[in-house]
Amino acid sequence: MYKISVIPGDGIGKEVMEATLDVLEAVDLDFDYEFADAGDEYEAVSGIPLPQETIDIVKDSQSCLFGAAGESAADVIVKMRQELDLYVNLRPVKSYPGTKSLFDNLDFVIVRENTEGMYIGLEEETEEGAIAKRVITRRASERISRFGFDYAVKTGRKTVTAVHKANVLKKTDGVFKDSFYKVAEEYPQLESNDFYVDATAMYFLTKPEMFDVIVTTNLFGDILSDEGAGLVGGLGLIPSANIGDKQGLFEPVHGSAPRHAGKGTANPAAMMLSAVLMLDYLNENEEARKMEKALVDTLAEGKVVTGDLGGNASTMAMASEVKNKLENL
Ligand code: NAI
Ligand code: MG
Repeated sequence: MYKISVIPGDGIGKEVMEATLDVLEAVDLDFDYEFADAGDEYEAVSGIPLPQETIDIVKDSQSCLFGAAGESAADVIVKMRQELDLYVNLRPVKSYPGTKSLFDNLDFVIVRENTEGMYIGLEEETEEGAIAKRVITRRASERISRFGFDYAVKTGRKTVTAVHKANVLKKTDGVFKDSFYKVAEEYPQLESNDFYVDATAMYFLTKPEMFDVIVTTNLFGDILSDEGAGLVGGLGLIPSANIGDKQGLFEPVHGSAPRHAGKGTANPAAMMLSAVLMLDYLNENEEARKMEKALVDTLAEGKVVTGDLGGNASTMAMASEVKNKLENL
């Protein structure tokens, strides 16, 4: 029995969550769900977007499924990352048949450091303009590198690549690069290499199949993961994981899409793939592959899919299709 906290949130977040929980019924595992509030709608009635009670519920669970928040997203998701020390942001770049992917057969992951770097908010105004500080510690660099290598071992991947700009950011990315190679010594069975971030941005477009697991700092990871999302087509398809030492929080990359909300037409694939990432995180890899296959087969057939995928099925009809396929695997 897994204890899972569930935060549907706002807009289409609630709709893709309902669809995903429906499919999870057909997964051969027991989940004990605890629902929790966060987001714009909750703020409208309570005055705050993220209550302590929700943080406590998530802390008390093995994993959290998060739909999407609206305007309060930063207050909700950024605060949650800090409160739970979710130092890994994991974004797969995987192409699926029947989708608008720029490349076929792409399958790599970006492991982004989630707690420091350029995003610590140490900015100050000066007479001339402004200065931002970039903090890179050995501790955070080593633990994100170790996560990348462990993930590669666990998922049977072969190469781990550090992405940085140590030729210009000599001190900060010097620490990052050195930490990465120090950890790499513990994994002689894996290949490790490194590239500059600018070259990496180009290789994404020219030969993305060269990547397997990328480990990088906060800002570079943010930019590269959106570039990666562009490679495999469409916000409705991109899942993500925020992982700490105690639990993971799994969420689609998209937001609450207010223009689509309430129509029951949002694509549930990104939320479902986030649940697949959760199953992998819980080491339920067999169930993860089955759920992924049921979704991939649905996408490949292209019959019962939502409007953004060229079909005209509702969110819940697509969920029923995936659930049916999963039950028959
Ligand atoms: P968005 O991701 O909500 O929507 C952008 C557009 O992408 C939509 O209008 C729609 O055309 C398409 N789209 C996204 N997800 C889709 C899906 N599942 N199925 C079909 N089409 C989909 O981003 P936007 O419009 O920038 O932000 C809307 C609200 O969401 C804002 O209030 C923002 O703050 C919030 N947001 C929350 C996030 C979170 O909770 N993690 C992340 C991003 C935005
Ligand atoms: Mg981003």
